[in-house]
Amino acid sequence: MNSKEYPIDKVLPVFSSEKRKVEYFRHNLEQQDKAELMKVLDTVFLTTGTITKQFEEDFACYLGAKYAVGVMSCTHALELCLRYFGIGEGDEVITTPLSYVATANTIEFVGAKPVFVDVEWKTANIDPTLIEAAITPRTKAIIPVHLYGQMCNMTTIKEIADRHGLIIIEDAAHCVEGEHRGGKSATLSNAACYSFYATKNITAGEGGAIATNDEEMHKWLLQGRSHGISSSAADRYTKKYRHYDMEFLGMKSNMTNMQAALLIHQVERIETLHKRREVLFNLYETLLTKFERPGLEADSRHAYHVYSVWVKNRDAAIDFLYEQGVGVAVHYRPTHLMSYYQEKYGYQKGNFPIAEYIGEHTLSLPLYPLLLEEEVAYVCEVLQRLS
Ligand SMILES: Cc1ncc(COP(=O)(O)O)c(C=O)c1O
Repeated sequence: MNSKEYPIDKVLPVFSSEKRKVEYFRHNLEQQDKAELMKVLDTVFLTTGTITKQFEEDFACYLGAKYAVGVMSCTHALELCLRYFGIGEGDEVITTPLSYVATANTIEFVGAKPVFVDVEWKTANIDPTLIEAAITPRTKAIIPVHLYGQMCNMTTIKEIADRHGLIIIEDAAHCVEGEHRGGKSATLSNAACYSFYATKNITAGEGGAIATNDEEMHKWLLQGRSHGISSSAADRYTKKYRHYDMEFLGMKSNMTNMQAALLIHQVERIETLHKRREVLFNLYETLLTKFERPGLEADSRHAYHVYSVWVKNRDAAIDFLYEQGVGVAVHYRPTHLMSYYQEKYGYQKGNFPIAEYIGEHTLSLPLYPLLLEEEVAYVCEVLQRLS
């Protein structure tokens, strides 16, 4: 698929600085998404309702999961899952230091302790061979993060979790389309959490979802995203009003009809969008010969969310690319070295050397369906000028 086959003329750039020749990100919301949103705005029901339900059914169907629940963010999705499993004070949860801070923060939010395990050189994902050494009697769960869109080795992680009676909650914020040995996220875990933040493969500006095959959990999550009360707003206002009870302490995180309206057609288009991402990802692979980067797992399908390379002097490279009009990002400087985590837990440089190396050298390049081949070529040409 080349840019002529992808309908780039349908979409306007969302932002542009004078200097910028290649934006780091442009969303691909189309006319049909905007029309769907307008339809919701013309009804009285802006909050969670039938469009949210439709999104949840379509999204679960795409993933091959029994249930999906729409929430306000992946951060809330992860926190709700931890709360459902009763994880809190005195518990430990194993995760990767190479992720957005949200992953570890959700563990903090519920009062548990994030225990980091270093990542693999090959994929930059949590190294399953190091997980068992980090398990203690307090360990309750593992949160693997499918970084950049490449799934973790879920077969091994599940074997470890089963051996030690641990819960698995996948952070699939980067990985809606990804697969491990033919199965998508939520296949080998208790639940998987997704983000529809502004730069994600499908987006509502902000938003999130949880997929699970567990009927009880699904029922709890529907209630848990609305404070734990026994009837939804849709129940109260579309049927005869009935009093509700609050049966447990939930969160306020229900996905609105407006967010869902923006998402439902993106779910329909997701495979087309993914094909276009694949073309651009492979073009980078071909053109960028002189940089180290995370490798691709043979037995997995990449979601092509982020394309990153490891450069010698990363921060100077950011300045140089900025001067040349190229938008870039960094995914990620490791969480254990953020001031909060250093101060609270005494983490320091040297604790997780591979995550730290990647965190110091990684640079994410523009990757989105509206990106043009010429733009990728320009980014690569500029990058190759770095020594
Ligand atoms: C790996 C990862 N986990 C969690 C999150 C949190 O997602 P949200 O912004 O939807 O809360 C993000 C967001 O960027 C992420 O990249």
